[in-house]
Amino acid sequence: MNDSVPVDAMLQPAGPVAQAIAEIAWVLIVGGSLVFALVMAALVWALRRRRPAADAGPRHALGWIVGAGVVCPIVLLSALLAYSVWRTRDMTPPRDPQEPVISVTGHLWWWEVRYRDPVRGTDVVLANEIHLPAGRSVLISVTSHDVIHSFWVPALAGKVDMVPGRVHQLRLQADQAGVYRGQCAEFCGEQHARMALQVVVHEPEAFGRWLAAQAQPAVTPREGLALRGAQLFAEQRCSACHSVRGLGPDASIGPDLTHVGSRLHLAAGTLPMNEASLRAWLADPQRSKPGARMPSYDRLDDASLTALAAFLWQLR
Ligand code: CUA
Repeated sequence: MNDSVPVDAMLQPAGPVAQAIAEIAWVLIVGGSLVFALVMAALVWALRRRRPAADAGPRHALGWIVGAGVVCPIVLLSALLAYSVWRTRDMTPPRDPQEPVISVTGHLWWWEVRYRDPVRGTDVVLANEIHLPAGRSVLISVTSHDVIHSFWVPALAGKVDMVPGRVHQLRLQADQAGVYRGQCAEFCGEQHARMALQVVVHEPEAFGRWLAAQAQPAVTPREGLALRGAQLFAEQRCSACHSVRGLGPDASIGPDLTHVGSRLHLAAGTLPMNEASLRAWLADPQRSKPGARMPSYDRLDDASLTALAAFLWQLR
C-alpha cells in the first residue's frame, strides 16, 4: 500500500459532516477528562481528610450518593445528548431531490460505485473511487454484495455499515478539491486491510467534465498491442466477470473496467495504476493480494500479458 489513512484524519475534518464529528469528539475528550480529574480530586480529598466518612452521619453520605451519583450523571448525560442531537441534525436532513445520489456496494475486497448519467439516465459504474464536486452535499447509499463491510472516509464523514440486503445512507461533503482516503472499517476477511477507497474531489466544472467522460463507452483499440490485448480479453473470457462498456456484455462479478486506466490505484488501493502494475496484477494477483477472487493468468506468455496490460491501460 503506497498510502494510508492518516491517524488523525478524523480530527482534521475537510467538510461540514466531519467537522461536526470532530467537534463532538473534542467535547467528549475535554469533558471526559474534566470529569475524570474532578472524580480523582474528590477521591484524594476523601482519602486524605482526617475524619472518616462514617463519622459524618448517614445524611452526609446520602447527600454525596444522590448528588454525585445520580444528579450529576443525569445532568451531564442529558446535556451531552442534547448537544450531540443538535450538532448532528444536519447529517440527515430531509432529502433534497436535486442532491446527487451515489450508490456504493461492498464486495470482497473492492468497492462498486454507481452514478446516474444525467444525460442518458443510465448508470455509470466504476470501482474503488468516488468523485465529488467540491462544496456540494452528496448522498451516498451503501449496501453489500457478500459480507458486512463498513464505509469510512474519516476526513469527510463517520462510518456506516454496509449490510447485505439493506441500504444505509450517509452524507458526504468536501469543502476543498483534493484526494481523501477511505477504508473498509469492518473486518471482512483476509484482505480487509487492502480494501481502500479514494474520494477525489473536483471543482464543480471539472466534476461535470469527469462524469461526462466516465459516461462514455470504452475506447476501441484499432491497432498494435492494445488491439491484440482486446482480442485476448475476449478469448480469455475476461468479460464473464468484468464489464467494458461498449466492448462486451455487462458483468459485475469483478470491477467495471471501462475507464480502468483513469483510476489512481488498482485492486482497491493495493497498487498504483500504471501499465507495469496491470501486467503484474494479471500475471499473479495472489502475490499482491492473497485471497483476491481474481484468478491468475500466468498461463499466458509474456507477450500476451504485455498486450492485455496495454489494452487495459488505454481504457481511460
Ligand atoms: Cu470490507 Cu473490511
